[in-house]
Amino acid sequence: MADSSSFELTHRPRRLRRTASLRAMVEETVLRPADFIAPLFVVDGKPAPEEIGSMPGVFRLNIADLVKECRALAKLGVPAVALFPKLDPSLKDDEGTQALNPDTLVLRAVRAVKKAVPGLTVITDVALDPYTSHGHDGVLTAARDDVANDRTVAILAKMAVLQAQAGVDLVAPSDMMDGRVGAIRKALDAAGYTGVGIMAYSVKFNSAYYGPFRDAVGSAKAAGTNLLSKATYQMNPANRREALVEAALDVGEGADIIMVKPAGAYLDIIREVRNATKKPLAAYQVSGEYAQLHAAARLGWLDLPRTRHESLLAIKRAGADMILTYFAKDMATLLQR
Ligand code: PBG
Repeated sequence: MADSSSFELTHRPRRLRRTASLRAMVEETVLRPADFIAPLFVVDGKPAPEEIGSMPGVFRLNIADLVKECRALAKLGVPAVALFPKLDPSLKDDEGTQALNPDTLVLRAVRAVKKAVPGLTVITDVALDPYTSHGHDGVLTAARDDVANDRTVAILAKMAVLQAQAGVDLVAPSDMMDGRVGAIRKALDAAGYTGVGIMAYSVKFNSAYYGPFRDAVGSAKAAGTNLLSKATYQMNPANRREALVEAALDVGEGADIIMVKPAGAYLDIIREVRNATKKPLAAYQVSGEYAQLHAAARLGWLDLPRTRHESLLAIKRAGADMILTYFAKDMATLLQR
């Protein structure tokens, strides 16, 4: 400690970094299992879990395995799961008809999970991309050159009511149509589901980081030879002020939780939205964020446990109250004590 060649210096921030106990005392952000929401992929009728090539350690689960996974997550203190169905391509069509089938895969999955683990919060995606043959989040215009906003919103509102009927706690519109939060709120209330909340993907960017997810649900190449572009409904990654416009609209329309997605490359947006709204804020660490850490770790270029922790800490420090992440189980396991 005593340093003979010391010079006069009033402020020495290193004083509080000297020992582990001092560092613990001044630690500002702490991760806990309850911070995480686990996104899970469900498939029909496959006997064994199928690993997603671009997402090591992430599997498409049949309903029985999904229920087991949900039990394990609840036991680890993870409070919520977000379910995403992967449909057989033969069930997809232009209109995403299966989204309104009252016995569609994700609704059967919700019923099974809520029955087995009633205390676990179940969140379902409201968007048409797992159901449409073209892979878009909504139905197309007559000219087939864009997604039709209002016709899509009408379908999404019906979809949300079916999900509420199946027993979900929160519906999560990820489609980015204008006015869908208000329409969903109205439809839920009219059907008597005033207690079902809306976690709105309010600020969702048109991001290249969704690539592995599109492999996982099979929406990637659905648009034929053209690359699937969602630029007419998802936000331009260049825009920050617009994020505040979108967040304010969803709060006004009745969103209970606001979301920013992706997370890691958009920490400034998380902070802006955090400062601008009093609503709880979620951030989605998306598939590409997960994939890049795994890929670098595989090459021996990054330390996975440390970068994983740091990536999530940064998202919470930026202002997220909860984080959707494919690392949820790993983190909750590590944070047990
Ligand atoms: C689509 C949807 C996407 C994700 C969640 N819901 C992808 C997309 O917009 O194409 C991405 C999640 C991830 O990358 O982990 N409604």
